[in-house]
Amino acid sequence: MKHLLKMLDLSTDEIIEILNLADQLKYELKHGIPHPHLKGKTLGMIFQKASTRTRVSFETGMYQLGGYPLFLSSNDLQIGRGEPVQDTARVLSRYLDGIMIRTFEQKEVEDLAKYGSIPIINGLTDFCHPCQVLADLMTIREFKGSFDGLKMCFIGDGNNMANSLIVGCLKVGMKVSIACPDDYQPPKEILDFAAQYGDKFDMTNSPVQAAKGADVLITDVWASMGQEGEAEKRRKAFAGYQINDELMAQANDGAMVLHCLPAHREEEITEKVFEAHANEIFEEAENRLHAQKAVMVKLMAK
Ligand code: CP
Ligand code: NVA
Repeated sequence: MKHLLKMLDLSTDEIIEILNLADQLKYELKHGIPHPHLKGKTLGMIFQKASTRTRVSFETGMYQLGGYPLFLSSNDLQIGRGEPVQDTARVLSRYLDGIMIRTFEQKEVEDLAKYGSIPIINGLTDFCHPCQVLADLMTIREFKGSFDGLKMCFIGDGNNMANSLIVGCLKVGMKVSIACPDDYQPPKEILDFAAQYGDKFDMTNSPVQAAKGADVLITDVWASMGQEGEAEKRRKAFAGYQINDELMAQANDGAMVLHCLPAHREEEITEKVFEAHANEIFEEAENRLHAQKAVMVKLMAK
């Protein structure tokens, strides 16, 4: 494993190794055991979109590993004025030991990896959000003990979160059901991948059908970053694609609810369900720190 660009690139073994290391790093942090695996290393963090969790967890995580994080806003970099990614990648590779990037196009992340010579970590693109899904898998295993026999149900937009959850959950052996409106399905590349898993994957436009027998229910905002101009249209298209009490009644007893955050209460999830599952949702947010530290150690501690 040289980079973390998308879940499609990871083998099941690589995912499990990251989760095991994340559990260990979480244990060590809670017990005051230092783990300076990245002493003297630097991570550049390029943000072309807003962030609370990704920025703070990478920055803190790098510090806890003994390294140094640099926050690089695209407003200040020449990349924001049109310097090609190929050149940025080759220059930054000479200063840094790794780059985390949050941007729009997946191609930009893939190009950084292609032209640079240091590990690249995808901190969210319009196509996927692998760091979030590693934290989600860590949280599911932490609460449920294992992935065996579990069903994950995603309700809403076939977006970056849906794409990464479909791939990640299928790779660790879970069943996956997704409910989305016809015009907001995940891209063909993801549906083709999922098709290999036969009846372990299904897609419907009925949230009730998707939630039947689910052990983990997950949703995300109806309008992602960059889609703010379509918010009203999306609000109409996604009416009914909400995690609420009625939907929870379809799920298995003790079903978990996760949300990558930020959440829009009374849109994709009711305040009541959100607060009833707040312990899971905020553990999930915390696990971003541990899962990303594991990724950085795997990629950069050489
Ligand atoms: N879930 C997530 O990636 O949060 P931020 O946008 O705050 O980083
Ligand atoms: N789908 C959301 C996820 C935010 C963490 C977005 O891209 O804005």
